[in-house]
Amino acid sequence: MDKSDPSFADSFLSVHGGEDRNKYAQSLIPPIAQTSTFVFNGVADFEDFKAGQRGGYEYGRYGNPTQRVAEEKIAALEGAEDALLFSSGMAAVCSVLLAMLRSGQHMIVMEDCYRMTDKFCRSMKKFGIEATFVKAGDMEGLQAAVRPETRLLFSESPTNPHLHVLDLNRLVSFAKENSLKLLIDSTLATPINQRPISFGVDLVIHSATKYMGGHNDLMAGVVCGPESLVGAIREFQSVTGATVDPHTAYLLIRGLKTMALRVRQQNETALELARYLEGSERVRRVFYPGLESHKDHTIAREQMRGYGGVVSFEIDGSIDEVKQFIQALKIPQYAPSLGGVETLVQHPATVSHYDMSKEERLAVGITDELVRYSVGIEEKEVLIKDIECALSVL
Ligand SMILES: Cc1ncc(COP(=O)(O)O)c(C=O)c1O
Repeated sequence: MDKSDPSFADSFLSVHGGEDRNKYAQSLIPPIAQTSTFVFNGVADFEDFKAGQRGGYEYGRYGNPTQRVAEEKIAALEGAEDALLFSSGMAAVCSVLLAMLRSGQHMIVMEDCYRMTDKFCRSMKKFGIEATFVKAGDMEGLQAAVRPETRLLFSESPTNPHLHVLDLNRLVSFAKENSLKLLIDSTLATPINQRPISFGVDLVIHSATKYMGGHNDLMAGVVCGPESLVGAIREFQSVTGATVDPHTAYLLIRGLKTMALRVRQQNETALELARYLEGSERVRRVFYPGLESHKDHTIAREQMRGYGGVVSFEIDGSIDEVKQFIQALKIPQYAPSLGGVETLVQHPATVSHYDMSKEERLAVGITDELVRYSVGIEEKEVLIKDIECALSVL
């Protein structure tokens, strides 16, 4: 990577991307346009607006200037032509799938994706859209799943919670050969660690609630890609209304400005923590793509600039011992979500996957012993010491 190339200067893009230097009232920071509607200077002005003779906004559901700054910033970071914000990551996932597919069509979904994405894809059957699930990275399974009516392939990379890293070059070739649109949920990577569009991926989705917002204080989602596709999704959103509100868009802009700093530190901490855990006799297995022992390490090293802030691992003990370990941790809060400045820990078997039977959970690799740890920005030495103390109670 050439550090003087502005297209890869993450903090330059995070701070300045999407921002006009001359803002309202010479404000340094993008103002919050806290308005639901926009006014026209009479009938002729509205006719000019409709004819595209002047820019601007019409009504909050169709867009807002604060939202637009955040969208252009994210598009710059992803190297995408356009981006569109939503009220949550799930609003983005559901809206994009509904906008892209219609009754009678079929999609392929890579397993080990966020539980609610999995749930929504299965529920699309009621709209006449079928989904086939294939194990993350199983290229033969992928080929076997293709039908004449298949239109789309959806995967996370890295996946959640096992942190499989998909070979984006192979997925792009596969999608092209089979005339499929390829969507990647890149939430766990962020554009700081990976830019799927540069590999030829069609659309990139994020839960902006996570690393982009970065402070566990907002809900938002985003889709990035070519203007033609994002524009069609924007039309759909203008009807369904899953838009982000202007104040949230402002919080997101604020969070994005420090994303590169946060994510780089989270990468560094997570790698060190994963190495520590790998060396502990109280830990059976560690899932982190930055470890040489991770099955996708080679792909991750080739296509990512950092390995992210989530580490999953299995305690070598009973479910009660896992609970004892989590209880003994002093720093992470016990909560779902990831990617913020606060370190969070969760136990997938009893939190994110609690409504599945043990057999169903085991089939997707969610063992009783699995712990998902999302590092925040606390110093790595402090977090490792805390884990060391918690493991010593076992
Ligand atoms: C990878 C991934 N995608 C999408 C989502 C959904 O995002 P949100 O919670 O913002 O709706 C999540 C939430 O945890 C996630 O982890």
